Formats: sequence, structure tokens, C-alpha cells
Amino acid sequence: MGTTKSEFRSIVVFGGAGFIGSNWTERLLKTTDAKVHVFDNLSRMGARHNLDYLQKIAGRNGRLQITVGDVRDAAMVGRVVKYATEIYNFAAQVAVTTSVADPRLDFEVNLGGTFNILEAARRHGQDPFLLFTSTNKVYGNSGDGVVRALGSRYVASRSRGTDETQPLDFHSPYGCSKGAADQYVRDYARIFGLRTVVFRMSCIAGQRQFGSEDQGWVAHFLYSTLEGKPLTIFGDGRQVRDVLHVDDLLNAFEAAYANRKSTAGQIYNIGGGEENTTSLLELIDRVEELTGARAGYNFCDPRAGDQLIYVSDSAKFQRDTGWKPKADLDVIVKSIYKWYRSNRELFAPSRSERYAQAELLTPMRRVA
Ligand SMILES: NC(=O)c1ccc[n+]([C@@H]2O[C@H](COP(=O)([O-])OP(=O)(O)OC[C@H]3O[C@@H](n4cnc5c(N)ncnc54)[C@H](O)[C@@H]3O)[C@@H](O)[C@H]2O)c1
Repeated sequence: MGTTKSEFRSIVVFGGAGFIGSNWTERLLKTTDAKVHVFDNLSRMGARHNLDYLQKIAGRNGRLQITVGDVRDAAMVGRVVKYATEIYNFAAQVAVTTSVADPRLDFEVNLGGTFNILEAARRHGQDPFLLFTSTNKVYGNSGDGVVRALGSRYVASRSRGTDETQPLDFHSPYGCSKGAADQYVRDYARIFGLRTVVFRMSCIAGQRQFGSEDQGWVAHFLYSTLEGKPLTIFGDGRQVRDVLHVDDLLNAFEAAYANRKSTAGQIYNIGGGEENTTSLLELIDRVEELTGARAGYNFCDPRAGDQLIYVSDSAKFQRDTGWKPKADLDVIVKSIYKWYRSNRELFAPSRSERYAQAELLTPMRRVA
């Protein structure tokens, strides 16, 4: 969806060097005339690699600006938001595990950082459109009725998927910080008239995802299998998730913006839906079939707050915008595999060492 000639778009992407942020920035650079300002503290492994990639795409077109900064720094956030016509907030502490180990960090980044962005937009902004990515973790255990094990997955007595009427039940510090932020984002639309949209997303997967045991499990399962590293499965592996390809998520961002008259002030559950569900064990089978490699794995106690089944019901967003996911699980897993094969050097000898090296390759200029 391109920019019309009359429309000037100046877009700030907080967390723009991460998985979703870098894919969104690439899409904006390739398909619109927008100016894109990436703001990221580069704390996520692979973030610098993603930035290098974006800089190559942008070349010398002057449309990409980069600020290495932290969303906890309200003054800095205020400066970058001032002239934005659109804001996307992906910057976050993204792992439930880290949120349990360091709840203060999680709180300050996810809630404090989002609050800084909202305040900057309200006080100094030019009536920007603002999209925030929240999570299915705000729902705790979804209302699927009785859940039982059947073969390699859990099945529910009610399998309609979770829609936005599901009562909130924040579970884990991450669920609390994202959930509180999502309520703030929504309320700034009601109280201050900011044009905000909240996406509550389940599992997003695709190219340029540096998945780890803590976050990005589909990519993590694939990489570990290819590298011959044993996986730890928390629980019995029958947990079910719906998976959405990152390209479909980008289409949803475009649809939310294009239909901003009706999406502003709304919260939407966004995911791959019933057709794109897999259990952990089923994903391992799929990865083995695709790659020909054998996955090694062992089982551990389930993680606190882990949902047995979560499937998004995105009907509200589909009704409001006409959006529909296109990529099935096969396409999703293949796109990660393809990206892995053309970026093998980042994954050997040990992924974490190579990530760290990739961070060191290019000194980053701070542009504030
Ligand atoms: N990937 C998923 O499956 C998924 C699912 C639900 C919600 N989300 C949400 O989507 C957003 C993006 O997720 P992602 O998968 O791209 O994660 P990611 O870790 O790849 O991206 C997050 C980016 O934010 C940056 N960041 C972290 N702390 C920061 C800070 N204090 N200041 C500035 N930048 C900071 C990181 O360096 C990273 O580049 C997050 O808000 C996450 O909670 C993701």
C-alpha cells in the first residue's frame, strides 16, 4: 500500500531494529515514500545485524534515520515523536522468563516506555496515528472450556478461538506490563482522542527472527534442530498456538492504518487463527520433515502461566478492514529456513557468539 502524492508520512518505529520492527521498516522503505525513523537501544541479539540490513536497503535515499536510544528516556522519546505522523511501538522486554527474573526492568520498559511514548504524542505530537503491539498473555487461560490431550496436541471442548470479549487476566510480569500498557494505549484514545490501535498478538514468525528459548519459539525450534542442539520442552509439548507470518502482520499494519477512521481507539486480536495452529510436538515433526534433520529434545516442568491452548479469533479486525492471513504454516517455516540458509554465518559456530560478533561488526552512529 503506497503513499499517495498528497500524503506526507513521517514514521517513528520504536524497536525498529527487532524482528517485527525491521520487517516493518523494510516494507515501509520499499513500498512507500515515507520517512522512517528507527529508535532502538539494540539490546536484542541480532538488532545490529537487522539495522545493517535496513541501512543497505535505504542506501543514500535519506529516508531512514536511526536513533540508538532507550524508551525509558522520556526526553529523547519526546524529541523523536514531535514531528511524527505515525508511531509504531514494538520496543519491549519481550520474554516472560526475563520478566520473572527482572520484573522491574520489564515494568519500566514495557509500561514506562509505552507511557513515555503516549505522553510525548499527547503533549508534543502532531495528532499521530499510534499502533501498539500487545500480547495474548493478557488473557491468562483463554476460555476454551475443558481441555484434554488428544494425540500430539491439546483440544478444547470449545474451539472458537479467543476474541476481544475474553476477560483480561494478566499472568506473569510480562503479561501485567504489556496488559497495563495496552489499557493505557486504549484509554489515551478515549480520554485524549489520540488515534491509537492495540494489536493483541499470539505467535508471530518469519524471516529475520533471532528466536531463542525465551522468545520466538518457532524459529528457535528450527535453528536448534539444524544446529544439532537439544531443545528443552516445557510441559508435555502438546500446547497449541496459532502462528502468523510476519508478512501477514505487516499487511495488518497497513490495513489498520488505511482504515484508521474505524480502527482508531480499537483493540484487536491478531493471529494466524484456527487454520494455522500447531502444537510444539507437531512443529518438531514439521521441521524434521522439511530439513531432514533430527531434533533432540527433553521435557521439563511447564512454565508458570503457560497457556495450554491459545488460538486467536481475528474476526473483528477482518470485519473492520477486510484483512485475512495468507501464509500457512508451511510457508512460515520455509521462510525462516530460507532466511537461515542465506545467513548461516550468523549461526556458526555458536549462535550466541556469532550474534555477539555481528553486533561488533559495525560501529553504530547515534543520531538524536
Ligand atoms: N514476536 C512475537 O511473537 C510477538 C507476539 C506478541 C507480541 N509481540 C510484541 O511485539 C513487539 C516486537 O516483538 P519482536 O518479536 O519484534 O521482538 P524483538 O525483541 O525482536 O524486538 C524488540 C526491539 O526492541 C528493542 N528494545 C528493547 N528494549 C528497548 C528499550 N528499552 N528501548 C528501546 N528499544 C528497546 C530491542 O533491541 C529490539 O530490537 C514487542 O512489543 C512484543 O511484546 C511479539
